[in-house]
Amino acid sequence: MTTQETIELFDKYVIANYSRLPRVIVKGQGCYLYDADSNKILDMFPGWAVSAIGHCHPKVVDALRKQAGELLHIDNTFYSEPQGELAKLLSERAFGGKCFFCNSGAEANEAALKLARLHTSQEKYKFITAEGSFHGRTFATVTATAQPKYHEGFLPLLPGFVYVPFNDIAALESAFSDEVAAVMVEPIQGEGGINVATAEYLQAIRRLCDEKGAVMILDEVQTGMGRTGKWFGYQHFDVVPDIITMAKALGGGVAIGAMMATEEVAASLVPGKHASTFGGNCLACAAGVAVIEAIEEDNLLKNAVELGRYIKDKLEQLKLKHSIIDSVRGIGLMIGVQLTSPGKEIVDKCLEKGLRINCTNDTVLRFMPPMIATKSQIDQAIDILDSVLSGS
Ligand SMILES: Cc1ncc(COP(=O)(O)O)c(C=O)c1O
Repeated sequence: MTTQETIELFDKYVIANYSRLPRVIVKGQGCYLYDADSNKILDMFPGWAVSAIGHCHPKVVDALRKQAGELLHIDNTFYSEPQGELAKLLSERAFGGKCFFCNSGAEANEAALKLARLHTSQEKYKFITAEGSFHGRTFATVTATAQPKYHEGFLPLLPGFVYVPFNDIAALESAFSDEVAAVMVEPIQGEGGINVATAEYLQAIRRLCDEKGAVMILDEVQTGMGRTGKWFGYQHFDVVPDIITMAKALGGGVAIGAMMATEEVAASLVPGKHASTFGGNCLACAAGVAVIEAIEEDNLLKNAVELGRYIKDKLEQLKLKHSIIDSVRGIGLMIGVQLTSPGKEIVDKCLEKGLRINCTNDTVLRFMPPMIATKSQIDQAIDILDSVLSGS
């Protein structure tokens, strides 16, 4: 099929709810994508943070092949080995909690919000979330997403959500009441522009939740699974939440989401209260196990820390040369470049030159390289960005 033929299929049969680039991707391998016109693209934003250990990681592909030959899916009427094994591996790398599996980030957050309501007393029905957040597109999670542009066309939203400025402890304190069931924030806001929480802010959430009997939920959908150089973003901040949610990188390219809660909070999720037909699917969980093994066997947490420092240094050097760069921020391989004007054109020009990056919140270039990337691939990416910013 030619690129044009595929695009025609989409025009005729696929709902046009995404702004797509006119490229058909036919293959992904490691840090590279290949399109139907034989172009090779260096991917510094793989799968919108899904393919964090690179495209088609051989360990994930092998695990999928093996699992596909044994059992693709079994419903949650039964026990299955991959689900139990993945829950154990995640629990041991976080705070020793218990997992509920689903299929996406929004579903993981939806489960967390419902569990917070179940776990707290009946008069607690409010949720506090932060301006600039992104938590998903279901009705509850789009309501939790405190960015008005995502609400347009869907009013009235779910009742009970209160929005506060991110990293503002005083605003959080004044918004808190006995009616709050949970606070949900991202340790680093991804879609909101790579805004890093302060340790004091996350610790204030912990303190207020403890004082008022509310649940602290951290959305680790983008920050989780090693992206920041630790397994989970919260591990940078000397704080332990009651619930974390994850998805994206967890399945190495296979759809999966998970919510982990402390044993005490998890006990409130009893049969009949929440479920997912595909949640804990054998194939997805086998992929998740392989992702964790690959990260550990290939020392990718260490690589994320070292490479994160390297790319940040390089971007700081570019800042000295290009006045459009205002600042560089982020942790590990979750990096934002704050521009003084919109970045879409820069992203498009980078792609023409064979580099994929992203622009979020209009003026923030987002680099989320695969954790398997090398310094020479980072150099290549920086050279392309440099040439685009130089107008050459
Ligand atoms: C922090 C965060 N939470 C939740 C979501 C929603 O995840 P999904 O698109 O898998 O539903 C996203 C997606 O970008 C996200 O970045």
